[in-house]
Amino acid sequence: MKKAGNWSLVKLPLLMIFSLLLIISACSKTESSGDDANRNHEGQDTETIEEDSEAITYEADVKEIIANNCLTCHGDASPLPLHDYESLMVFVNGDSAGAFMRSLDNGENREDGEPGNMYEYLGESDEEREANLAVLKEWVGNWTVEDKPSEEELKSIKAPEN
Ligand code: HEC
Repeated sequence: MKKAGNWSLVKLPLLMIFSLLLIISACSKTESSGDDANRNHEGQDTETIEEDSEAITYEADVKEIIANNCLTCHGDASPLPLHDYESLMVFVNGDSAGAFMRSLDNGENREDGEPGNMYEYLGESDEEREANLAVLKEWVGNWTVEDKPSEEELKSIKAPEN
């Protein structure tokens, strides 16, 4: 009897703490799903890419970066066109494989430690350049800056169009 009496004295505060915890965790869940919703609003096709909403693609992310920063010099009539997916891929994993990564790298992956000669065009501030570089790096997947990447290295390049 004594034990049971003690237990009910303890039970009430325990119950209160437990309910508080439940409320707190319910609130934080609502918050994080709110964030997800915002993120989806920025995506183009929230319904079909729900599962893979974080994947970076040429159409959704890369095209715009190239259009904003590169096409003044690399338009479809230029000697080195980068205006569509096919022409861009020449420098990612095609005839000039690795040139894209080598010329855009900020120096971190290059042997000489210097930024590639196209890095400066990635944005107007260091912040913008680094943000765009991060997107491109994730898109390429295997950011190889070698002159002649091996077959194996080329195969692990992702760079999806859609
Ligand atoms: C002001 C003009 C200009 C802008 C803007 C520009 N480029 Fe270039 N780019 C050039 C010229 C000129 C060359 C060829 C000579 C050289 O490599 O410096 C070139 C070469 C390249 C090459 C080939 C490098 C190689 O080693 O074969 C790639 C890839 C490239 N640019 C990507 C880009 C990307 C991506 C952007 C946008 C972030 C960009 N460029 C912005 C002028 C420009």
